[in-house]
Amino acid sequence: MDQLTIIQPDDWHLHLRDEGALATTVPAAARCFGRGIVMPNLVPPVRNVAAATAYRERILAARPENSEWQPLMVLYLTDNTSADDIRAAHACAFVHACKYYPAGATTNSDSGVTDLERLDEVFETMQELGVVLQMHGEVTDPDIDIFDREAVFIDRHLVRIREKFPALKMVLEHITTEQGATFVRNSEGPLAASITPQHLLYNRNDMLVGGIRPHLFCLPILKRNRHQTALIEAATSGDSRFFLGTDSAPHPRHAKENACGCAGCYSHHAAIELYAEAFDRAGALHQLEGFASRYGADFYNLAYNRRKITLNRDPWTVPERIDYDGGELIPLAAGQALNWRLQN
Ligand code: NCD
Ligand code: ZN
Repeated sequence: MDQLTIIQPDDWHLHLRDEGALATTVPAAARCFGRGIVMPNLVPPVRNVAAATAYRERILAARPENSEWQPLMVLYLTDNTSADDIRAAHACAFVHACKYYPAGATTNSDSGVTDLERLDEVFETMQELGVVLQMHGEVTDPDIDIFDREAVFIDRHLVRIREKFPALKMVLEHITTEQGATFVRNSEGPLAASITPQHLLYNRNDMLVGGIRPHLFCLPILKRNRHQTALIEAATSGDSRFFLGTDSAPHPRHAKENACGCAGCYSHHAAIELYAEAFDRAGALHQLEGFASRYGADFYNLAYNRRKITLNRDPWTVPERIDYDGGELIPLAAGQALNWRLQN
């Protein structure tokens, strides 16, 4: 197969950042996606509908002319989120989910939740109203090895939350392990997972063997090869509980090439092309449309995009660097050859 036409995809997890960054991130999102779920981890975070409204306006101001790409907004849960905040989110047409970050788990998560059990009333209200809970599924206890944080989160927290709130719609964001994929697959009730291109294309050897590659450092961290294989199987299986979420998370080059480099991979320069590469390697291009364009919309109760996109087998080389917010960033797969190219 040398050409693939699919319903225009959506990205169910991305970071656009703010202000000067939007000139890079918003056109990149609009290049191929119909909609994007915009993560709320700004400083300060997007905690309520008023902040989401203002942020959405700034995003829309950066949208290319004639683009119909839509930002779908998310509220950031904190220890102080109330049931009223959830009711306001539910009443707002462009807020589509609330995101749980454990305090200190990842970039800009200092305002995150310190104790999950404090959120029971909030989860109760979300379940009742059908508001989607997105979870950064990692524990942050210092004694838990960074490679085990997702699996331990599932055992310590997710099992309990599923049992206590069986009808709560939840997405385990950016799963990185066999345990994550298996838990989602075996769950009854409304639980899905998003999967990033970096976790399909790479494992921790790519990041650590022969020298540390800071541009592959993201959270949850890349795991061993066995987990990469499990994620490829899940993404290409045709199981509608697994869908596209790039977690495209730009950081300026100097912040990643640093003695304490920050976490996040930028993939929106070539998001659908990177997924096409992974699906092609698995012999599963026929499953790309479901994963990229249908299953996420189904989960969020939204219509499919009306447009289509076409990918051609037409090898090209990913740029080594991209202008970003007055500086530059190093994109995922910089300098590497990709086989699939989006037709304009
Ligand atoms: C994200 C970021 O930079 O905002 N980083 C990352 O490594 N994925 C935060 C997140 O989604 O965890
Ligand atoms: Zn993210």
